[in-house]
Amino acid sequence: SGPDWVPLKQDWKSRWCTLPACYIEDLAGRIDAFETRESDVFVVTFMKSGTTWMQELAWLLLNDLDFERAKSSYPFHRSPFLEYSAINPVVAIDSVAMCNQIQDNSRLIKSHLPAQLLPREIWKHGRKIIYVARNPKDVVVSSYHQMKGMHYSEGSLDDFVEYFIADKIMYTSFWAHVIDFYKMRNEENVFFVTYEDMSRDLQDVVKRLSRFLNCKDLSNSEMEKLLNHLSFKNIKESKFGNPTGFIKTLRKTTDDFEFMRRGIVGSYKDELSLEHKDKIDKWTMSVLEEHGLTESDIF
Ligand code: A3P
Repeated sequence: SGPDWVPLKQDWKSRWCTLPACYIEDLAGRIDAFETRESDVFVVTFMKSGTTWMQELAWLLLNDLDFERAKSSYPFHRSPFLEYSAINPVVAIDSVAMCNQIQDNSRLIKSHLPAQLLPREIWKHGRKIIYVARNPKDVVVSSYHQMKGMHYSEGSLDDFVEYFIADKIMYTSFWAHVIDFYKMRNEENVFFVTYEDMSRDLQDVVKRLSRFLNCKDLSNSEMEKLLNHLSFKNIKESKFGNPTGFIKTLRKTTDDFEFMRRGIVGSYKDELSLEHKDKIDKWTMSVLEEHGLTESDIF
């Protein structure tokens, strides 16, 4: 209990997921029954895993590299966030209605919900899903900065790690989220990729994603333009690509809040204490072991 934003643990469809209470009250039923279209594409991630980066890439591929539109409107408007109404209930935005209003040939819909909470029709009709996973230590650090910047969390990074591992942070359990999609990675309608893949070789990801989305092959110059557009530096400096300013219009943040923070693999090395790094590693090993996996199978 507590103020509206305190995540409550709910046992929903026999899987755990920590979500704000108002999600269950107001949104869960509408999202469960959300009507999908054949051409829909869902970008699904655990938060802070490179969602916005992937949205920008996928939206451009689906919209014939319309850089002009990409440079003049926020990802939030081009590719709405399905359950946003529950994440920021203070602002009167009906995020499900926003998804329904999209006029693009293919709607690109963002969600951080775990597999079991996504619209039922996705599974019934095999709608396309792009899933981006990121290593948990960077996710923890990035989530901590975001949550703190948005006044969701007031404690230290060490406290945050403890809550994260105990599934007390919004959208946890982290590993259940990732493992469900990792296991679906060979399904025809699922494109599973990691933030680490995108950092290592974005061009390869663009080519594979383009085939998955049935988009036309890109010329060398189109590819170059796209990769430049998607670079951390370019997006950070762009008024519409960088959501920092937009988020500040939607909610109270700290003055130093910055969405495009570091954009690298391994930023945890500068920020996590050795004790908490080890704690996350041990937790990861024990969870993955139950599934016959190691972290290097995924990342
Ligand atoms: P950091 O906080 O580690 O910098 P999401 O969109 O899921 O919220 O993920 C945000 C994370 O992706 C942030 O990570 C952000 O900096 C990073 N990111 C966003 N755009 C990026 C880009 N073009 N290149 C690399 N990282 C990017």
